[in-house]
Amino acid sequence: MTTNNPKAVIVIFGATGDLANRKLYPSIYRLYRNGKLSDNFAVIGVARRPWTNDVFRDKVKESIDNFDDPHIDKDEFASHFHYNPFDIQDLEHYQELEALIKELDAKHETDGNRLFYFSMAPNFFGTLAANLKSEGLTTTQGWTRLVIEKPFGHDYQSAKELNDQIREAFSEDQIYRIDHYLGKEMVQNIEVIRFANALFEPLWNNQYISNIQITSSEVLGVEERGRYYDGAGALKDMVQNHMLQMLALIAMDPPIKLTPEEIRGEKVKVLRALRKLNENEVDDYFVRGQYDKGIVNGEELPAYRDGNGVDPESNTDTFVAAKLMIDNFRWAGVPFYIRTGKRMNRKSTEIVVEFKDLPMNLYYDKEHETKSNLLVIHVQPDEGITLHVNAKKGDYNASSTPITLSYDNNSEDKMNTPEAYETLLHDCMRGDSTNFTHWDEVALSWQFVDVIANAWSKKKADFPNYTSGSNGPEEADLLLNKDGFEWWDVKSE
Ligand code: BG6
Repeated sequence: MTTNNPKAVIVIFGATGDLANRKLYPSIYRLYRNGKLSDNFAVIGVARRPWTNDVFRDKVKESIDNFDDPHIDKDEFASHFHYNPFDIQDLEHYQELEALIKELDAKHETDGNRLFYFSMAPNFFGTLAANLKSEGLTTTQGWTRLVIEKPFGHDYQSAKELNDQIREAFSEDQIYRIDHYLGKEMVQNIEVIRFANALFEPLWNNQYISNIQITSSEVLGVEERGRYYDGAGALKDMVQNHMLQMLALIAMDPPIKLTPEEIRGEKVKVLRALRKLNENEVDDYFVRGQYDKGIVNGEELPAYRDGNGVDPESNTDTFVAAKLMIDNFRWAGVPFYIRTGKRMNRKSTEIVVEFKDLPMNLYYDKEHETKSNLLVIHVQPDEGITLHVNAKKGDYNASSTPITLSYDNNSEDKMNTPEAYETLLHDCMRGDSTNFTHWDEVALSWQFVDVIANAWSKKKADFPNYTSGSNGPEEADLLLNKDGFEWWDVKSE
């Protein structure tokens, strides 16, 4: 790892796109404002459109419009940004880009460090990587790193092909694959909560935990992304990456050291221990859903199939619930339930760890029911943890009542909680790959998900099967009920 104030020329391919505008420029600004980026940086925006530096800088300034920091001169900040119109197929354009990088490297004294950020349609990644290498842009005196956005393939085979292409130009330790959930403050907090507390780690196994639930629900539908999403669905869009990454962090063994290699090694072991399903078993473990029209906040919203860019007969899942088993010593017999969907009743990501009931509970009677002990990790929009325990009821009886102990990360430090992309950009510039996905993780996740996707593609689902603004299809509840459990969010609120 290098210094905390890294120096680099950042080259963003897809600079006119939505992600760059919504996430990358504001994140670079926040790093700059928070003193995490020295003056030794430049950003080159690369895309097809024939913009000038001035047009680009105006767009960058628009993207940070809602920041109001009296000490920061936004024109000075924007002067670090340069625009380079570019055709990926045209090798001469690479030479022009090389010249611009060199010029800015000298001007901003960035020590020859280069960060390439691919924020564009993945079908161009291979050509782009190959041309960057053949035209000499990947060879420099400083470091060269590649940040690459999802989707990383649409199944194992396509991910492997993509990876092979990229690996022709960049080595694995130069590649930073983004999973923005790994940049979220409370996702990063999972390891700390687990491995810095004597209270939890000894109980973190099949002796004491009955089940674990990971939910990531969204209120929005697919909006303008129908064309991409209809070929993907919730399984590939959310489960293959974000959900399995959270699962791996929750289930992994303590690493022997906090190095990227050791942490990754433990996560990989979890993914390897995931119980492989064959296609006939998929219906016992997975539930898929697709939203119908419905009324959300008083507004009538259309069904998924009536959305832009979506096939009116679409068989694509906008909701997935699953029961995953991790067949290792620690977790044998403990179900991990995951659930994610669009157009649900609230935007929320939460992890609920349900502890087993006591062998005998003295306070249990029909009138005064004790509640299971739960540890809830609130990932978003609230950030924090809540521990649900039982305590004496404030009356003359020796009865119990459920109480909660809460820590709210938002109220502690709301202003300074970094954005996921801000953290990830900073990590990459410092050469810390802990919160990025290694190829081994990507490969194992796709291999697991491919079986489900194949089974589903062979059978038309009975869609739509949940109303917009609801909690998803009823089958998702049954998935837990048949094991004697239920989703906790409904009851814990
Ligand atoms: C993205 C998916 O990776 O994550 C989107 O492609 C989804 O479909 C998004 O909406 C959810 O991210 P967040 O941070 O809003 O929970």
